[in-house]
Amino acid sequence: MTSHMNFPVETHPQPVSASEREKLLEDPGFGKLFTDHMVTLRWSENEGWHDGKVSARRPIEMDPATAVLHYAQEIFEGMKAYRLGDGSAALFRPDRNAARFRASSRRLAMPELPDELFIEAIETLVDTDSNWIPPGDGAALYLRPFMFASEVFLGVRPAKEYLFIVIASSVGAYFKGGAAPISLWVSFDYNRAGPGGTGAAKCGGNYASSLLPHGEALSKGCDQVCFLDAAEHVWIEELGGMNLFFVMDDGSLVTPPLTDTILAGITRDSLIQLARDAGHAVREERYSFEQWKVDAQSGRCAETFACGTAAVVTPVGTVKSDHGAFTLGDGETAGPVTAKLHAALEAIQRGESNDSHGWVKRLG
Ligand code: PLP
Ligand code: COI
Repeated sequence: MTSHMNFPVETHPQPVSASEREKLLEDPGFGKLFTDHMVTLRWSENEGWHDGKVSARRPIEMDPATAVLHYAQEIFEGMKAYRLGDGSAALFRPDRNAARFRASSRRLAMPELPDELFIEAIETLVDTDSNWIPPGDGAALYLRPFMFASEVFLGVRPAKEYLFIVIASSVGAYFKGGAAPISLWVSFDYNRAGPGGTGAAKCGGNYASSLLPHGEALSKGCDQVCFLDAAEHVWIEELGGMNLFFVMDDGSLVTPPLTDTILAGITRDSLIQLARDAGHAVREERYSFEQWKVDAQSGRCAETFACGTAAVVTPVGTVKSDHGAFTLGDGETAGPVTAKLHAALEAIQRGESNDSHGWVKRLG
């Protein structure tokens, strides 16, 4: 049984009925179906972390001068709980999300939540709402821990009060097309992150600034925007919410190195390991847009895929930009290395293959 020591559970007085929930879980979509409960935990300069609990999911009331509404001092995480074959639930590398949450806190001048409290909060919510984990391939309970400046104060300085919340959303595939290849628009006009900025932190502001270029990508008929480095507009960085890998015709993989402008994806890290386990060379090195274009056209770059918690492994089929368009492979199906790594990752996450790296944390 999960310990609820720091997060006593106040059960929802009127949870969604079992029959209604089962109906909702048949086609959950992404990020629009939420469970009955949420975690809350407060921090203040005087009291530190306090008042943790799980209670009925409800709106949060805020004073209009709450600091986060003005200066965006906010961070979040994204992770999933999976249903295993034996009916139990499991998390995938939650220690990594806990560590990244602390790293994001440091960059945003916020207090660091101890990893044990972060993981206990997640486990308690999954335990309380485990019947919201949807059945079916590719489905999971998406967990969204986040923290924001809750102090009522308009001066510009780190707040002295924060609210940490975890909500959970039953999800299916992130992209409507499921595992079909997506198209990318490479932006030469907008950047996601600059040196010394917040690109390596998972803070809401990074996503706010990606929305206009994302809209531009949609208007060009593409699914996602691909960002280049801010200094030279030469080097491929990542998508608004996913890292990128390039598969070469010799079977080796390339992925952009972690700098302070790229989010250190946990899926990225796992796939580097799984690819090496399968005998592929993996290089974390800079790769330019121009080289990608040449290599895609010559066949040297045979496959490209995006990866992240929400997107898992999603093949890239076509690339468009103001500096040319090209196709990866046949543009319509996942390449063999992409498909193999996708299957290997999912098999571990769902408890269907040997977890030799100890990544799966079974609950209950
Ligand atoms: N890059 C960005 C900007 C993201 O938002 C995400 C998603 O969390 C990722 C990469 C992939 O990270 P992870 O694999 O940890 O989900
Ligand atoms: C995630 O993968 O968890 C993210 O936060 C990215 C977003 C596209 C949902």
